[in-house]
Amino acid sequence: MRVYDIIKKKRDGFELTREELSLIVKGATNKTVPEYQISAFLMAVYFRGMTRRETLDFTLEIASSGDVISPLDLDGVKVDKHSTGGVGDKTSLIISPVLSALGLKVLKMSGRGLGHTGGTVDKLSSIKGFKTELSYSEFINVCKKTGLSIIGQTKNLAPADKIFYALRDVTATVDSIPLIASSIMGKKLTASDDVIVLDVKVGDGAFMKSEEDAKNLATVMVDIGKGAGKKISAVITDMSEPLGYAVGNAIEVKEAIDVLSGKVKGDLYNVCKHLTAEILYLSNYGDFISCEKAFESAISSGLAYDKFLEFVTAQGGSLEDFETGNYLPKYKMEVLSESSGYLSKLNAEKVGVSALYLGAGRQKVDDVIDLSSGIVLNKKVGDRVEKGEILCTLYASNESLFERAKAEFLSAIEVSAKKPSDRILIKETIR
Ligand code: URA
Repeated sequence: MRVYDIIKKKRDGFELTREELSLIVKGATNKTVPEYQISAFLMAVYFRGMTRRETLDFTLEIASSGDVISPLDLDGVKVDKHSTGGVGDKTSLIISPVLSALGLKVLKMSGRGLGHTGGTVDKLSSIKGFKTELSYSEFINVCKKTGLSIIGQTKNLAPADKIFYALRDVTATVDSIPLIASSIMGKKLTASDDVIVLDVKVGDGAFMKSEEDAKNLATVMVDIGKGAGKKISAVITDMSEPLGYAVGNAIEVKEAIDVLSGKVKGDLYNVCKHLTAEILYLSNYGDFISCEKAFESAISSGLAYDKFLEFVTAQGGSLEDFETGNYLPKYKMEVLSESSGYLSKLNAEKVGVSALYLGAGRQKVDDVIDLSSGIVLNKKVGDRVEKGEILCTLYASNESLFERAKAEFLSAIEVSAKKPSDRILIKETIR
């Protein structure tokens, strides 16, 4: 079988066999197929798409192209929540300890932030002493001890995806549903989770800008998960404005701590409650209402916060700086409203870019970020705002970064005379 013939077959709209897809994935991973042929293959998929069977086979090949996590001696239901990426999304920091406080096991490899979206590993790295790199046995042992461990993705996790993604990035083939779905699920399926809930974000700050695209992506990913024998669902949630009030790294950890200790509710709390309940529901914990109640009581009893502390300590971290307020950088700037009315827009992508300008995000994968910088919002969409009132506070280690970040933030907002209609946070669940 020649790679040329596989590319031609896909180009002409035919369905590829598992063997043909395997040859492409293995050839990309061990570099026996040149990048120009892999790029041509990706372009053919971009135009011709993939059938459900092809998408599943391609994903399974990506998942098995490198390391897999399969701790045979880890008791209990293994669960995970995966978000397609957004701004201010610190849900993993809240949901994971809640789930382990309720007796489930969370063994998670998380990604780093890129562009306007943040990453869980960067947020955890802002905790003094916290180790995001553990050996395989340390990773499993922390989970055995605390019910929860989160580390960064290892270099050899789904290596085929890294090659495909880098080529997609430079060949205008990123926005293809089968390629996105197989990339996300190829990484997810390296873990031996029993239950997976996908948080598919939709809106200005998300990969998927329209509900129709988000639903298509969610449906394909749920199909892949089912095909791989998982209990899986996808919840489509709003990302038209940032989730919660904090955008950055350390300041997002602080907000997560405030939610875990029952001090803060609002959109972040509600999304976490819904996603946690969905995971519990698929794990046969009970009906949906009792799953929501389990989330509420894990927070109000303090068990979830205690679990977070136990997990952070087990990975070498200390929350002392968050207790003393010592997690912020040297400089801050308040951004004031230039008019009165209702905040009717708070474009999540632009807020994410503003935080990136402050040093909180990276434009290229190897950029170094300032984990203490970021934005704390004072107003969210629907809030009344008066001229001169504080819209947000920008935090940075270098004062020269403020002007550009402030201009970007102001371009993200709209203030109007009419109160906007209420935001629908949870749009749909695909089971
Ligand atoms: N996230 C991924 O991991 N892959 C994609 O293709 C898009 C988003």
